[in-house]
Amino acid sequence: MPRSLLYLVFLFTLALFAIAKKEKAWSGHTPPGSDKPAPFTPYWVPEGAKSYDSSSPLIHYSGKWVESFSSHYIQKSIRMTAFPKASAKFSFSGTGIEWFGNIDTSHGVSKVYIDDQHVQDVNQYSTSSRKQQRVFWKYDLSPGKHTIKIVNTGKRPGDPKTTTFASLDALIVMRAPESRQDASSDQTPIAQHNPIAAPDAARPRVLLAQDTQGDWSLTQKGSTGVHAMQLAVISESHAIIVDKVEHNPLTVDGHPAWAALYNLKTHALVPLRVDSNSFCAGGSFLGNGTLVNVGGNEVIKGFTASADFGYMDGMQAVRIFEPCDAEDGSGCGFYEHHTRLRLASPRWYNTVVRISDGSAMIIGGCKRGGYINDATVNNPTLEYFPPKNIHGSNGLPIHLPFLVDTLNANLFPIVFSLPDGKLFMAANQGAMIYDWQNNQERRLPGIPNGVRITYPMAGTALLLPLSPENGYTPEILVCGGSTVDDFKKPEDISSQEPASAQCVRMVLHDQGINAGWEVEQLPEARHMPDAVLLPTGEVFIVNGAGTGVSGYGNVGDQIGKSNADHPTLTPLLYNPSAPRGSRFKTAGSIRSDIPRMYHSVATLTPEGTVMIAGSNPNLDRSEVMYGTEYRVEWASPPYMTQERPVISGMPSRMGFGQEVRAHLGGRRGTNYKVALMDLGFVTHAVHANSRLVYLVNEVHGDAIAIKGPPNGGVYPPGPAFIYILVDGVPSVGHKVLVGDGASPPADERVRESMLKETTVDKHL
Ligand SMILES: *[C@@H]1O[C@H](CO)[C@@H](O)[C@H](O)[C@H]1NC(C)=O
Repeated sequence: MPRSLLYLVFLFTLALFAIAKKEKAWSGHTPPGSDKPAPFTPYWVPEGAKSYDSSSPLIHYSGKWVESFSSHYIQKSIRMTAFPKASAKFSFSGTGIEWFGNIDTSHGVSKVYIDDQHVQDVNQYSTSSRKQQRVFWKYDLSPGKHTIKIVNTGKRPGDPKTTTFASLDALIVMRAPESRQDASSDQTPIAQHNPIAAPDAARPRVLLAQDTQGDWSLTQKGSTGVHAMQLAVISESHAIIVDKVEHNPLTVDGHPAWAALYNLKTHALVPLRVDSNSFCAGGSFLGNGTLVNVGGNEVIKGFTASADFGYMDGMQAVRIFEPCDAEDGSGCGFYEHHTRLRLASPRWYNTVVRISDGSAMIIGGCKRGGYINDATVNNPTLEYFPPKNIHGSNGLPIHLPFLVDTLNANLFPIVFSLPDGKLFMAANQGAMIYDWQNNQERRLPGIPNGVRITYPMAGTALLLPLSPENGYTPEILVCGGSTVDDFKKPEDISSQEPASAQCVRMVLHDQGINAGWEVEQLPEARHMPDAVLLPTGEVFIVNGAGTGVSGYGNVGDQIGKSNADHPTLTPLLYNPSAPRGSRFKTAGSIRSDIPRMYHSVATLTPEGTVMIAGSNPNLDRSEVMYGTEYRVEWASPPYMTQERPVISGMPSRMGFGQEVRAHLGGRRGTNYKVALMDLGFVTHAVHANSRLVYLVNEVHGDAIAIKGPPNGGVYPPGPAFIYILVDGVPSVGHKVLVGDGASPPADERVRESMLKETTVDKHL
């Protein structure tokens, strides 16, 4: 084959070139248990998966394929073909499949068929030349027997003349973890039976009414490509996903990526470069629409954490993501500059919120990655981005006694900005109101009945909808958590200890505070739930576990690596304005078969659906129960199938107290409401900044006049989505920037002083 010979010479030259150049783009990582740097390649066989080399007799090649040998290939061999219609066929039993091969300028498009259905055209053409690349993956197959067939077309797009190659280095099969089969074979609705026998306390106690307003549906579509640990909607078309450094299927610069943009309309992915380890960062938008992703973990050598291959220390990182409204998510990315742009102190598991002047407040966290917080690693302070000088702090961290008093279970504190500009904070069993301008704490009644509500006994919390009718009076809702003793040694805690079913709410004015927390019970105990506000004012509660605690690799009787068990698979609806005792309903009869426990997320989308993703109680990507979950689910409220109002001409800015006008079409009716929503930055059951403010409006014929929120207390300046509801049916959400769009106040002298006075605190 003269052509393939030529190709081999070409490859050899490239290999020499690569050796001479010594891949300098990627360094600083080590395989688990070793301190010796090794490449962080996409090819990696997760626990529970099985690799089949190109030389496996189980792969049937037809047409002409050439076998080549090199130590750079998986098992030192690869198969290549330049013949159109040459194919490789492989039968397997499992839930997913990955194909590895080369990418470079000599490769082209192959057609991939699964079970004789054409599923994707895979293009191995690339201007960079790389080996051991994952060129195709599919993880949503039903457990059982499947066949993959790869057919070379011999062409690449836009070039009908050149004959191109396809190459196959290895296939990896995801074998079905037991839990998936169990969960999907059990169709029994909840409230009668829990799929995986739960202890009594975790069993649903109440038979629930169904939401009967129409049909809810739950569909599974799309893959997040990087595990969805952190999630935020950034535009009408995209969400950003940030993970920790691990062997995710999506790649960037030839190595596994740990952040991506997810196209909410087409399900397409754009991998993002992140310089530092973002495990477990917090995030918030600023008043000018820019997103900051703050804190994370260090680069840890040896076998201690998921950061074995971390690139840069992320504990003091501030990752800037400028507004990105490109329809295809192109041209957007993170910016990091670790010497000029960083926190004053290290933070792992910190919460970040936007305050009334459009700045970010960064609260708490640990000074070192680990598990539960304690006095030796606690960072009981807050700081601001951009740095502020408050009562002489001069940009340095401000001590918060509350975060000392709430040890140990106080990571990822629950924080909401309140209409008077102060902040509600809750951690462990404590709660307070913090006046940031005067640096004053006002302690509130603690969470009743011994329930802890923050990591690793995470509940979830929301600021209930604010409206002009109630004078924007804030009320906080906290659901779930656990009563496990937070001073117990991790190995003495059990994955089978029941979660709490308690939901509490409190109105934050003097009278409400005097009355204390009103206690309700979830129909089913859970911790690590996600609570998502819908434009209707209802709360959609999803994800979580009936037993155990957050995290992985800590408790005595881990399930796989998970500290938790008994995934709660039935979402709930909570109607805050219904009378007590009738606030909970099931969301129609929807029920998931995907366990989503630690490191799961959910958010409302601009379209009006709820995006549900993640779950990864693992050090690194795993296919063993409970594995790393990349599949996405979409919960559709009944309004998605009804005729909806259609809004046009909505301006992209909304000043405080100013009136904007838009045109109304589609559904018309008698009751008009305007919901201004922050969809939040979601991670670890914390929905930072999540907010719904109903706005004053007036309808005249086809025009609606909407009055902006009164001030930055009611809605901290920054991005929002506006949904117009007609008789309870919302339009799609339109993105607006609330306020004047200005950057948050920044004092250059304070920043310089902070940089001078603090160091990057790698070791305690
Ligand atoms: C918003 O403000 C931050 C902090 O000063 C800055 O880094 C960012 O570039 C600003 N973004 C825009 C769009 O002005």
